[in-house]
Amino acid sequence: MGWDTAIDIGSRGVVRTQWNEGFTSADQYETVAARSGRRVEQRMNNIMSKFTRRQFAQLAPGPFLLSLATRGSAAPPPPAAPGAIPTRIVLTWAGDPARTQAVTWRTETATASPQAQVAKFIADPKFEPSAITVRATFEKDDLGDGKSAAHYAARFQGLEPATAYCYRVGDAQVWSEWNVFRTASTRPEPFRFLYVGDEQNSIKSLWSRSIRLAYAAAPDARFLVHAGDLVADGYDDRLWGEWSDALAFISATLPSIPVPGNHDLHRPPGSPDAKTSLAAAWPWRRHFVLPSNGPDLDDMPGQSYYLDYQGVRFIALDVNAFSEEGYEVAARKRVTEKELDWLTKVLSDNPNRWTIVVQHQGIYAISSGREYAAMRASLAPLYEKHHVDMVLQGHDHVYARTHKIARDRIVDPSAPGVVYVISVSGPKMYKTQKVNSQYMAKMIEDEQFYQIIDVSPERLALTAYSIDGAVADGFELRKNGTSSTYIDHSSGK
Ligand SMILES: [Fe+2]
Repeated sequence: MGWDTAIDIGSRGVVRTQWNEGFTSADQYETVAARSGRRVEQRMNNIMSKFTRRQFAQLAPGPFLLSLATRGSAAPPPPAAPGAIPTRIVLTWAGDPARTQAVTWRTETATASPQAQVAKFIADPKFEPSAITVRATFEKDDLGDGKSAAHYAARFQGLEPATAYCYRVGDAQVWSEWNVFRTASTRPEPFRFLYVGDEQNSIKSLWSRSIRLAYAAAPDARFLVHAGDLVADGYDDRLWGEWSDALAFISATLPSIPVPGNHDLHRPPGSPDAKTSLAAAWPWRRHFVLPSNGPDLDDMPGQSYYLDYQGVRFIALDVNAFSEEGYEVAARKRVTEKELDWLTKVLSDNPNRWTIVVQHQGIYAISSGREYAAMRASLAPLYEKHHVDMVLQGHDHVYARTHKIARDRIVDPSAPGVVYVISVSGPKMYKTQKVNSQYMAKMIEDEQFYQIIDVSPERLALTAYSIDGAVADGFELRKNGTSSTYIDHSSGK
């Protein structure tokens, strides 16, 4: 059984191989190939001279042949089947940002051995042997019209704080590129992050410009806070595809801290639980692996949770049960009671210097018909009592920032109180209303925005950018004890 009979090229350009006639494993084949020594290489070269490497790769029958075809050359690897290529790579945290990182991704066709690899980032490209492999969990979803998708999740644990890592996702045959993330420090060191309001509409077409400009403006941001309504219909997988297309590699290198808005809960028309369940539509759980430290609501994982990052407690609070009246009263009551119990504990037992709440609907709404008095009555006193510094919100499709507020009154900049911000990054635009406008230090309509927030132990500063590049608004809080001094940097735009 010699190499000369193992590979031959038929008159129609078909590669016939001994593989089909007797070899039972790639190992056996490679053993024969190895014994044939230089003759193999010569024969391979002869074959390759008649085909381009790409053509040969497509004709060759097995992955071991593909490796032979490209071994020792600078040729690119063979093209992977499109359905096996990892897409929608999204970083989140399910645990301590200083020592863990979670990632999700998907393929059109399910792969046999989904996994992720992680290695410390070094400049030398020969880092791959140091990579650690982590098996991924797997879910397959029916998308209708005969289509399905496979979603995977992997968790990197035991990482070193304040360290850059490379990672990739795939199935050992087909991999993503090596992306990069950085773990948090265990100390309250300075950092910056991005905050965006509703993406929601024309996500690929028009939200893309907001998020890409945001990343270009702050490539050193550590993560991306989404204040809800990431898509217009949470159940619609195509919209999540747009969301991922708009982000491109950004979601694979900047972890997301998302909170669901009302649209993220949307069910397909006619769903029997549309008025009784406040669980986010299924794509939420496929794209985001989030902390399981939330309220005692097993059916709503990853909708409310908290994360501590370098001296800041971030509380993602799903306030749909407080504000959306389309759900049955009993269903809302169950969720709000559990959330309030949980929120009280998370705010009371908080060793961090700063506290930031992220929620979708605004406590001091500034678009018509979005006043949620019961939500304000429930949440604002808790925020004030426990010295929440800032609440990041969306839902109103404008930019609006309050003065410092306590007990529904504007207070002195150095008095205890809370600053509430509403913003929008997608293209859907509303108008501001007179109601609550007395609370606002700044209101801007009809522009898309992103916000960069700089944090240090002494100072928390928000700068809002219109996507025309202009600074639209800004302020800072300077910490003193449990309170802070509020300094307005409003540009007057
Ligand atoms: Fe909304």
